[in-house]
Amino acid sequence: MKGLGEIRITGGRPLRGTISIQGSKNAALPMMAAALLYRGVSVLRGCPAITDVFCMEEILRSLGAVTWWEGKDLYLDCSYADGTEISGENTGKMRSSLILLGVLLARNGKGTVGYPGGCVIGKRPVDQHLHVLKELGVCIVEEAHLLEASCERMKGNRVSFAKRSVGATEQGILAAVTAEGKTRLLNCAREPEIIWLCRYLRKMGAEIRGEGKSCIEITGVKEMKAGDMEVPPDRIVAGTYICAAAATRGRIVIENPPEGELDAFLKVYRKMGGQYIRKSGKLIADGRGTAYPVPYLETEVYPGFPTDLQSPLMAVLATVSGESCIRENIFEDRFRAAEELNKMGARITVFEREAKIQGGFPLRGCKVTARELRGGAALLIAALAAQGETIVEGCSFICRGYQHICKDLTALGGQITEDTGTAFYENIEIPKKIKHYTQT
Ligand code: UD1
Repeated sequence: MKGLGEIRITGGRPLRGTISIQGSKNAALPMMAAALLYRGVSVLRGCPAITDVFCMEEILRSLGAVTWWEGKDLYLDCSYADGTEISGENTGKMRSSLILLGVLLARNGKGTVGYPGGCVIGKRPVDQHLHVLKELGVCIVEEAHLLEASCERMKGNRVSFAKRSVGATEQGILAAVTAEGKTRLLNCAREPEIIWLCRYLRKMGAEIRGEGKSCIEITGVKEMKAGDMEVPPDRIVAGTYICAAAATRGRIVIENPPEGELDAFLKVYRKMGGQYIRKSGKLIADGRGTAYPVPYLETEVYPGFPTDLQSPLMAVLATVSGESCIRENIFEDRFRAAEELNKMGARITVFEREAKIQGGFPLRGCKVTARELRGGAALLIAALAAQGETIVEGCSFICRGYQHICKDLTALGGQITEDTGTAFYENIEIPKKIKHYTQT
């Protein structure tokens, strides 16, 4: 299907081999936003070359930044990035662009962004983002499809989030680092990506304490310095590959596993019969014994089971005999992969926020469609475990977060018979340098 990109997989082979994990999408995007706080060149080393990063790059360019890649490192020169408006077209492509609102305000005293987009996995309101900015003194006018914000200099405050939100916590941190005085953010999300963002900001001169806990304290500074840091490995990509190995009853070695960020997932993996050990900095995940269902599992904010691994896990559970049940607590519409998995022979019933998986029925290859990022990855996992050929359409969603999933799965022994990868980027205008990079 033109414009969507498709991947063809012939399943039935256990995955085996060694793999290294790309930089984290969810860590890189807020770090890119942070670069706007410094009028000069910042660097993200080992930045993932994925469409969400390209989209953020395009937005920063539209504000006046100059960006380029040197190998795997992304350079962002924000010396003259003084634009204050991000079009609805751009924010519609990617929800994380909303976190730019705080940095636009910090830099220019005003900012306008379109209502954000992102994967279609539920309502995804923005009230907590607006709440934290308003509490820092920002005046926000909500027009039809636009958010117009202004404030001469934000003022530190004590702000409590009504709900733990990764994006809103990042918004608050990014806004407060150059605000006047002290800010205390309460009921913050504790996801590792927030810790990475704070480490990056600290390198840039920010004064932050408490990241990774629910109360984060920030003392505003007048000026920031250049940021230069390695993007950490992507915990969700690592979990996806472990799921792929488990679904095919394979064994993989991850060279650069995320440190301690996958504990909740690995606990469930062990319950299914998967085994893992850490050795010389590597993680060996042996999924050959994967055989047991998971009677009940809920997705939760960190350190609970991550919602981003819910669909990949569902694909694995379809391959083991017995009944499993997953409750999705974070997003209300995140079981879109279930219907497609059922086309392949899975027996999954969804009722409101719960999915019941009657596992162990053989999966057969057929034509399926990815409708969002992680659900798309789940279809690839099921395809690797299925008999015969599966055609997964809609792969542009998968490219939002996985840099070279076809190459990685092929290296592990998966049979990817066709990959129309370069077509995936059709909807996003990629600067020439990057286009070359993604095609290699
Ligand atoms: C981030 C991740 C995404 C992950 C999610 C939850 C990035 C780029 N994306 O998304 O991969 O699935 O965390 O771990 O880092 N909410 C509100 N009001 C708000 C904001 C959020 O009610 O103002 C709700 C959302 O609708 C959702 C929940 O809070 O139900 C969690 O969302 P949030 O943590 O904000 O997710 P994102 O930051 O969008």
